Amino acid sequence: MKILQVNNLVKRFEGVVANNNITFSIEENEIVGLIGPNGAGKTTLFNCIAGYHKPDKGKIFFNGKDITGWPPYQTNVEGIARTFQVIESGGDMSVKEEIMVGGFCRTSNRYLAMKEAVEIIEFMKLQDVQDMKLTELPVAQQKRVGLARALATKPQLFMLDEVAAGLTPSEIEEMKELIVNIQKKWNLTIFIIEHVMQLVMGISARVIVLDGGVKIAEGTPDEVAHNEEVIKAYLGERYAKVRKG
Ligand SMILES: Nc1ncnc2c1ncn2[C@@H]1O[C@H](COP(=O)(O)OP(=O)(O)O)[C@@H](O)[C@H]1O
Ligand SMILES: [Mg+2]
Repeated sequence: MKILQVNNLVKRFEGVVANNNITFSIEENEIVGLIGPNGAGKTTLFNCIAGYHKPDKGKIFFNGKDITGWPPYQTNVEGIARTFQVIESGGDMSVKEEIMVGGFCRTSNRYLAMKEAVEIIEFMKLQDVQDMKLTELPVAQQKRVGLARALATKPQLFMLDEVAAGLTPSEIEEMKELIVNIQKKWNLTIFIIEHVMQLVMGISARVIVLDGGVKIAEGTPDEVAHNEEVIKAYLGERYAKVRKG
């Protein structure tokens, strides 16, 4: 069954068409990657789906329901959660409290939110830092708190925006394993923006490629990696960067 269907989505900012007539769908329990150069429109697409931006044109259906233009708290209650490229702290809260906040989108019961936060904290191996503040943690742990906070809202569709950025190679491997385990444990559908090819190509069943706001390709990681247009727009540039070190 389709969990997400995006039809002819257009989002403009003054002078820039950040999303230009994008159409795709995601099946339940799939892991789908979203790649493309900086400025391609990936985060904008996430923002339109999760309700942080209103699309100028097009439709977004979640479980068959038209959610186009719904605000973030409503898409969240409906079952969509996302992480942010830059993880901002909710202020003076502990890691545990930050994670509990996620639960309050569904329940006002403090005990229940606490119980669920504890389960997520254990799964994410954040026990040792749960009483610390987000800003006191190294980046890899901040990323895990970002994931935990979004997971606490109990999403069906979990959207991850560059969770491997700034991680070391071994932390990237851990993150990869963690995402796969999260998907299995909570039976989620995952949509993931990522520049780290080792991660996104390794776990995605399908990959969608954006360039200049346009969807230029869609297919298995292998199909996409061999697509001429994708190599020209994105992968070639990245490989060139790797060669230059
Ligand atoms: N809030 C905004 N206001 C104006 N322009 C924006 C805004 N968000 C994104 N853009 C522009 O839209 C384009 C796509 O950006 P973005 O979706 O962040 O790309 P990506 O995540 O693929 O790097 C860029 O040209 C960016 O400058
Ligand atoms: Mg982005």
